[in-house]
Amino acid sequence: MKVLIVGSGGREHAIAWKLSQSPSVEKLYCAPGNAGIAAVAECVPIGAMEFDKLADFAVSREIGLTVVGMDDPLVGGIVDVFEARGLRVFGPRKNAAVLEGSKAFAKDLMKKYGIPTAAYEVFHAPEDALAYLKTARYPTVLKADGLALGKGVLICGDYAEAEEGIRTLMQDKKFGSAGDTVVIEEFMTGREVSVLSFVDGKTIRVMTSAQDHKRAGDGDTGLNTGGMGTFSPSPFYTEEIDAYCREHIYQPTVDAMRREGRPFQGIIFFGLMLTADGPKVLEYNARFGDPETQVVLPRMKNDLLEVFEACVDGRLDEISLQFSDQAAVCVVLASEGYPLHYEKGIPIYGLDAFSGKDGYFAFHAGTAFKDGELVTNGGRVLGITALGDSLKEARANAYTAADWVSFSGKYMRHDIGKAIDEA
Ligand code: AMP
Ligand code: GLY
Repeated sequence: MKVLIVGSGGREHAIAWKLSQSPSVEKLYCAPGNAGIAAVAECVPIGAMEFDKLADFAVSREIGLTVVGMDDPLVGGIVDVFEARGLRVFGPRKNAAVLEGSKAFAKDLMKKYGIPTAAYEVFHAPEDALAYLKTARYPTVLKADGLALGKGVLICGDYAEAEEGIRTLMQDKKFGSAGDTVVIEEFMTGREVSVLSFVDGKTIRVMTSAQDHKRAGDGDTGLNTGGMGTFSPSPFYTEEIDAYCREHIYQPTVDAMRREGRPFQGIIFFGLMLTADGPKVLEYNARFGDPETQVVLPRMKNDLLEVFEACVDGRLDEISLQFSDQAAVCVVLASEGYPLHYEKGIPIYGLDAFSGKDGYFAFHAGTAFKDGELVTNGGRVLGITALGDSLKEARANAYTAADWVSFSGKYMRHDIGKAIDEA
């Protein structure tokens, strides 16, 4: 089968690499892709939001399945456009991708179906939000309703900060219309865990756990980023917690979406916080995590195409997922200045060191070829993943491999997976 992947980051590189292992994949395309993806797929210069062009391409190349990696096209309705043209596509329709696209929708769904999450209120007007904030308990959490590249969440220590936050989101519209509606929620404490799952509308199959590091600096300091590194599995995600989440969070979410007339087919990514009162949902995403995928897929034993097809065909109940006992750690190599201002087009050296080494992966996030040379092309440049027999070994291997790569302005965190020392 010919498969088209939509996206261009480290997540899509990991998906492309994993699909390239499938004996049933005859040819892989990726739109728009990047320099690393080009090693396993033919990159096509069509943007992820150009739905009609992508669908035309899928028709002309007789693509058997399109896999959408990114949130923007999913929330924008790419799946509906493909389905209307009779094309097979992995991912939720627009009316289901709203689980990620609107935080107010997600919170109301959880409240209606008794799925554990932080207490909250939704506001459409800044004056109402401010009136509420005058009597709120601090710290408190403000969230832009719509997509904001993971940056629309503000944790405010007092009223003055919250007032400033409301101005940023609702009045200055830093995230555009994403801030027309704001969710204000209770601040929770605990460890965060990311759990990805495959869903076919009714059945859910949960993958192994992972943990992301969202802040730019060591010790969880600095600005929020798309994610600076991950490890999998999370030693804090015990069997007991897993059993609780399956009963109270995972299946109830899938059932709730179906009951609402919004059957979800694709990936549900549960962002959880393990609080003293039990696990609670921080957020839902309607797609694979980035860089969670870079530690989850290298541990997955199944043929990924088979699982995608089972989701699209509504027979996920026939699939049992299997993961290796090995652990994985991913360290993101970023451009100095990320997530604010950084240069692009800087030559990257050292990737040859990965060839022929089992258990080491250089997933490309923001790379390109310029005059035949590999150069940086984004804030997050590479996700260096390594496997190991324990999390500690995987971490040591990932940091060893991170040193094989060099480029001017290379920046990474040095404490990815350090939390496992406390497990
Ligand atoms: P989200 O995009 O909703 O996952 O939020 C981004 C980050 O903000 C999360 O990974 C948490 O670290 C933090 N966060 C979000 N909601 C809360 C909350 N209710 N209490 C504490 N921290 C939160
Ligand atoms: N790593 C967090 C995300 O993909 O949203």
